[in-house]
Amino acid sequence: MSFKLKDIAKEANVSISAVSLVLNDKPCRISEEKKALIKKIAEDNNYTPNINARSLITKETKTFGLIIPDIENIFFSRLTKAIENYCRQFGYTLIIVNSNDEYTQDLNLIDLLLSRGIDGLFITISNSAYNHQEDICSKLNKLTIPYVMIDRIFPDFDCNKVYFDNVKGAYLATKNLINHGHRRISCIINSINSQNSISRFEGYKKAMEEHGLSIESDFIIEGDYHIKSGYAAGDMIIKNNTTAVFVSNDMMALGLLKRLREENIRVPEDLSIVSYDNLLNDFLIDMQITSIDQKVSELGTVACDVMLNHIQNKELECKNICLDPELIIKNSIKDIVYKEQP
Ligand code: RIB
Repeated sequence: MSFKLKDIAKEANVSISAVSLVLNDKPCRISEEKKALIKKIAEDNNYTPNINARSLITKETKTFGLIIPDIENIFFSRLTKAIENYCRQFGYTLIIVNSNDEYTQDLNLIDLLLSRGIDGLFITISNSAYNHQEDICSKLNKLTIPYVMIDRIFPDFDCNKVYFDNVKGAYLATKNLINHGHRRISCIINSINSQNSISRFEGYKKAMEEHGLSIESDFIIEGDYHIKSGYAAGDMIIKNNTTAVFVSNDMMALGLLKRLREENIRVPEDLSIVSYDNLLNDFLIDMQITSIDQKVSELGTVACDVMLNHIQNKELECKNICLDPELIIKNSIKDIVYKEQP
């Protein structure tokens, strides 16, 4: 039978709440001798705190919730790992749940995590949340615990948010293709109205317009950040006679590479590519893809600092932190001497 708080209290002749406060190093009016006795009884009897019992006293479970939209996407598995490792250093456990990019799951999973008594929530909203911003914001506004939006945000919604400058990332990617002489450049974006997609498309347009390059309608291909949509985009890339493509995330780039390989279209010899997330090169064999790095570990640890600062230092002012992406040059771009179409 495991030794409980009440057993220590009985042996030390103090209240259960006094034992909990002493074992949690919380301020309390107990003599130093009695504190030492309580700790010795706990140690001698191999007492291990029951998280539920402890939370009754401290009202904390030392647990955070994390909602991610696609656990199969390396970006989110890396983000999860960064957050979990960092929070563990501060004694927090993470409950990780996957919304499958469905806003209804975002709403259900917030309730599920609240029912587990989490002390704080990290959320990367689903793609479809952008069609239901009011529902999501209404749910988040009702939370009585701190929360941090990570990576996918609502620009006009005031809350703790940590994300990357997606306009800058897409601009750097597209400008790099232009610097290599490309003029006819496709862009595979995520669902039209998701904020990251809007921003990345804006960065692509900014680079193209800066160089007076026209954006023909069949240059723009809508995906959904998943592999299959990149594969399907390959059929349109093959037809639209572009020499280069900016792909707005790695999973779609993976699907595109598969489709190109089926048609024996070589990268960069036949088509130049810049991707986004910089997470594929550990897995690619016969090439390395130039990509925008979002420093996923930094994204995770900065989000944790915002959360911990809110909880431990009662920092109640919302933090809006925009991080800088970085272009990582590899060998997926070929120089081209552009000949004007006759
Ligand atoms: O690959 C997943 C994409 O969705 C990443 O680029 C990240 O920004 C997330 O929003």
